[in-house]
Amino acid sequence: MATYDLIVIGAGPGGYVCAIRAAQLGLKVGVAEGRATLGGTCLNVGCIPSKALLHATHELHEAHTNFARMGLMVGEPQVDWSRMLSYKDDVIGQNTGGIEFLFKKNKIDWIKGFASIPAPGQVKVGDDTHEAKAIVIASGSQSSTLPGVTVDEEVVVTSTGALALKSIPGSMVVIGAGVIGLEMGSVYSRLGTKVTVVEYLDAITPGMDGEVSKQFQRLLQKQGLTFVLGTAVQGVERTATGATVVHRSRKTEEEARIEADVVLVATGRKPYVDGLGLDALGVQMTPRGQIATDDRFATSVPGVYAIGDVREGPMLAHKAEDEGTAVAEILAGQHGHVNYGVIPSVIYTTPEVASVGLTEEQLKAAGTAYKVGKFPFLGNGRAKAVFQGDGFVKILSDKATDRILGAHIIGPMAGDLIHEVAVAMEFGAAAEDLARTCHAHPTFSEAVREAALACGDGAIHA
Ligand code: FAD
Ligand code: NAI
Repeated sequence: MATYDLIVIGAGPGGYVCAIRAAQLGLKVGVAEGRATLGGTCLNVGCIPSKALLHATHELHEAHTNFARMGLMVGEPQVDWSRMLSYKDDVIGQNTGGIEFLFKKNKIDWIKGFASIPAPGQVKVGDDTHEAKAIVIASGSQSSTLPGVTVDEEVVVTSTGALALKSIPGSMVVIGAGVIGLEMGSVYSRLGTKVTVVEYLDAITPGMDGEVSKQFQRLLQKQGLTFVLGTAVQGVERTATGATVVHRSRKTEEEARIEADVVLVATGRKPYVDGLGLDALGVQMTPRGQIATDDRFATSVPGVYAIGDVREGPMLAHKAEDEGTAVAEILAGQHGHVNYGVIPSVIYTTPEVASVGLTEEQLKAAGTAYKVGKFPFLGNGRAKAVFQGDGFVKILSDKATDRILGAHIIGPMAGDLIHEVAVAMEFGAAAEDLARTCHAHPTFSEAVREAALACGDGAIHA
C-alpha cells in the first residue's frame, strides 16, 4: 500500500507518456499494468509488431520486383517465417524494455497487475489498495468482432493472432477494409497469400479523402489484393482445413461464400473497461461504450480522468500520447491542450497513405470555399529513381485566405511528409508559406512544395 499524487491505469502510449510527463513535472506516480510487459496494445500487439512485419515484407517485395532492375542479382529470396517472427518479437522486446528503462529513470512505480477503482482516490491491485490524489484511466481498447463470428486466434483471428500465425497461409479473407485489414492484408499478400478483403461499405478506408481512397484501392489491386465491396459478412463457419466466410451483397442481396485458410476479423476496436468497477463507481459512459469526459479529460467522478482509446476520438497511439501529456500538465497546474484539428493519420502500406486536417468531402459538406493543389510523384525525380512514382500530394487551402485546411498524400514516405504540413497548420500557415520555403533537392518533400505551389499559380514540374 502506497500513496501517490497520480496512479495511471494502463501502460500503453496514453498511460506511459502521461506517467513520464507527470513525473517530469514533480508528481509521485504509479502505473498499474496487468500485461507482462509495458507499452500496451501499441508496442506489444499493435503499431510496432505490425510495422516490423510491414518492413520485412516490403523488403521482400523490393527484392522480388526492383533488385534486378538495379543490377542487384541476389537470386530468389527465401522466407524463413519463424526468423521473421523472431525479428518482430525482438523489436517488441527492445521497445517494451525501453519503457521499463524510462520508468526507472523517472522513478515511476510499476504496480504489476490488473487494477480496479473501489472508491474515488483508491486503486486496488491484487490484495493491495493504493491511495492517489488523481487517477487516470488509460485502459485502451480491444478488437470488436461480429455476430456469427467466433475468434479462436488460430484460424479465425484478430490482429493479435494475425501477428503470430504458425505458418504463412495459402489464402486469407480479411473482413473490413480499414487500417488493420489493409496493413495486415498487405503483409500476407507480399508473403504469397491470396488475400480477399470483404468490406461493408462501397469504398475502402472509410473517412479518407475519396480520390486517395480510389487510387489506393487500384494500387493494392495491382499488388494482388482482391476486394469485395458493398458486402456484409453474415458469418464465418469453421471447416476441416480453414473457414468459410458467408457474405451478402448489400445491393443485390445475393449470398456468396469464400473459403480460406485464415480469416482476419478487422472490423474496428472498442474501449476496454472490464474489471475497473466503473459501474459501481458511477462513471458515466457514452452510448458508444467510451468513458465520457470533459475537455480536461475529467470523468463524471471527481479525481478520475480518462485518456486514449478508452475515450472519444481517433484510436491512434499519438492521440493517446498527446492526451497523456495534456492531462499530466493539467494535473500539475498547467494548461495541457490537444489540437484535434491537426492529428495526422498514416497507413503504413506501400505506398504509404497519410492525411491531416479536412478532406475535400468534409469541406464540400461544410460549404467552405477551397482551392486544391495536387502534384503527382511521377514528377518527382527522387521518387522515379526509387521506382515509387505512384501517388500524389494533395493540399487543400481556403479560397479566400490560402490558409491550409488539409493535406492528403499517397506515395513514398507519406507518413513522414505529412508532418511538414501538420507543423504548417499548427502555425496557421498559408499554402504559399510552404510553397516559398526552400526544399532540398532531390527529396520526396519537393512534391509537397509543388502541391502547395499548385494552390497558387501552379507547380513547376507538372
Ligand atoms: P493501449 O495501448 O490499449 O494500452 C492499454 C493498456 O492498459 C494495456 O496494456 C492493458 O493491458 C492495460 N490495462 C487495461 N485494463 C487494465 C487494468 N484494469 N489494470 C491494469 N492495466 C490495464 N496506432 C497508431 O497511431 N499507429 C499505428 O501504426 C497503429 N497500428 C496498430 C496496429 C494494430 C494491429 C492495432 C491493434 C492497433 C494499432 N494502432 C496504431 C492503435 C494503437 O495501438 C492504439 O491507439 C493505442 O495503443 C492506444 O493507446 P492507449 O494507451 O489508449 O491504450
Ligand atoms: P477500422 O475502423 O479502420 O476499419 C474497420 C472496417 O471494417 C471499416 O471499413 C468498416 O466499414 C468495416 N466493417 C465493419 N463491419 C463489417 C462487416 N460486417 N462486414 C464487412 N466490413 C465491415 O478498424 P480496424 O482496421 O479494425 O482498426 C481499428 C483501429 O486501430 C482503428 O481505429 C485505427 O485507427 C487503429 N489502427 C491504426 C493504425 C495506423 O494508424 N496505421 C494501424 C492499425 C490500427
